[in-house]
Amino acid sequence: MAEMDLGDLRADNPLKIDNPALIPAARYHDEDFYRLECERVWPHVWQMACRLEQIPNVGDWIEYSNVGKSVIVVRTKDGVKAHQNHCRHRGVPIAGGAGNAEGQHAHGNCAKSGFICPFHGWRWNMEGECTFVYGRHLFDEEVLQKDELALRPVRVETWGGCAFINHDADAPSLRDSLGPVLDRLEARGMSKLRSQWWFATVLPANWKVAMEAFMEGYHVMKTHPQLQHAQPSLYNARYGHETGGIGATINPNLSVRDNVEEALASMELLGAGMAGLVQPKEIAIARDLADAPLPDDPQLAMMTWYGLVCQAITDRLRAAGEDVPDLPRVMQEHPVEAVEFLFPHYFLLTYFTSMSSYRIRPLGPESCLFELWSLTHYPEGQEPEVPREPVMLPFDSPDFPMIPRQDYANIPIQQKGLHSQGLDVVRLSQDREGLISNYQRLIDGYIAGVSGERLAAANRKLGGNFDGPILDLGLD
Ligand code: FES
Ligand SMILES: [Fe+2]
Repeated sequence: MAEMDLGDLRADNPLKIDNPALIPAARYHDEDFYRLECERVWPHVWQMACRLEQIPNVGDWIEYSNVGKSVIVVRTKDGVKAHQNHCRHRGVPIAGGAGNAEGQHAHGNCAKSGFICPFHGWRWNMEGECTFVYGRHLFDEEVLQKDELALRPVRVETWGGCAFINHDADAPSLRDSLGPVLDRLEARGMSKLRSQWWFATVLPANWKVAMEAFMEGYHVMKTHPQLQHAQPSLYNARYGHETGGIGATINPNLSVRDNVEEALASMELLGAGMAGLVQPKEIAIARDLADAPLPDDPQLAMMTWYGLVCQAITDRLRAAGEDVPDLPRVMQEHPVEAVEFLFPHYFLLTYFTSMSSYRIRPLGPESCLFELWSLTHYPEGQEPEVPREPVMLPFDSPDFPMIPRQDYANIPIQQKGLHSQGLDVVRLSQDREGLISNYQRLIDGYIAGVSGERLAAANRKLGGNFDGPILDLGLD
């Protein structure tokens, strides 16, 4: 996208961020700002369109739609392709077409029949070539040029077990846009993970409110108090007054054995509350090591214990036929943050060998579709059936795991609060809530029409920034 005159920026984007720690509240509900995002951000970014296991066979397709643009992602003989989902005759979507408002995820297989437009019956094959025009003689040949009738291609890249699409032919590649975070996640076996389950809900909140609820751990003490009660030393070290940093996760008042118990209790709570992030198979292996011989020094003891747990999980899951990563090695060589974000709307929570992944799409200025996948490894041939559509639940459904349900409790009420008279800005911790500011200012960069290369350079700085500081993104 071309550089714009930055002198016009103020008039263009009246809600531009001036102080990186103060975010204008109207950015979360203003209709003009939402329109700017739809026109200047979404058409230029890499969007996670589907998981590849949803389209395992040649001809399998799925519709991905967001902010009014619908795309067909299809597996062809030559790999995954994407097409604009509109008929070249008079524009009707040729597949699905209901959009995502109700959580629709149209899918099917086009190997035999191709795509058939529901209006007048023109047809296309999976490559996007038009194969049939009903009543061809009724048209002037000039309007039926072969190239013109082909479905418009959309850029697609596959990575990490997912297909990503981008509507901008000139945008830097997925790798150039996201940078080393991709390597770190791949080292964790990202592309080998399979869906265990897939849930979705509609949240009455701006999509950024929903994203930002997961960008810091500072809310754990109040929103998920059970986690802090299970392992107070971790959270006090990270957010309280005590110094010591993230390594100081032991309680000096407890014996080594009680520290191990605290860690196990925390793992079990996370396993129950996040349903899938820490799997029962992993907790059982850790439990078996509760009495492992450990050094007397509590700090050293806990480091040793975590090392033993990681090694045992690797060994035992591999022995059971799972292609899991070498956890002790990747934790040293490719440390990932507890949550890793892929701008703009996809993020992953990591613990041992499994992950939770979340995708958020706006449905309007104050509504969004929020999807959660639990991802884990399976021995070959024992993978469960792939969910082709999410289970739609109300956001306050007791069927959601406890921890996202606790997050969902805050999101709609925050959205209401953002309308309050006198709330001009939300204020951020420069040390712990920096990712929120970094994200928001990258959005401003897109709105301002900054060059793709500079946007990608700024985007690459976002990786590993969960709970992190406000950064200079080089956009001003
Ligand atoms: S609009 Fe598709 S065939 Fe006419
Ligand atoms: Fe949370």
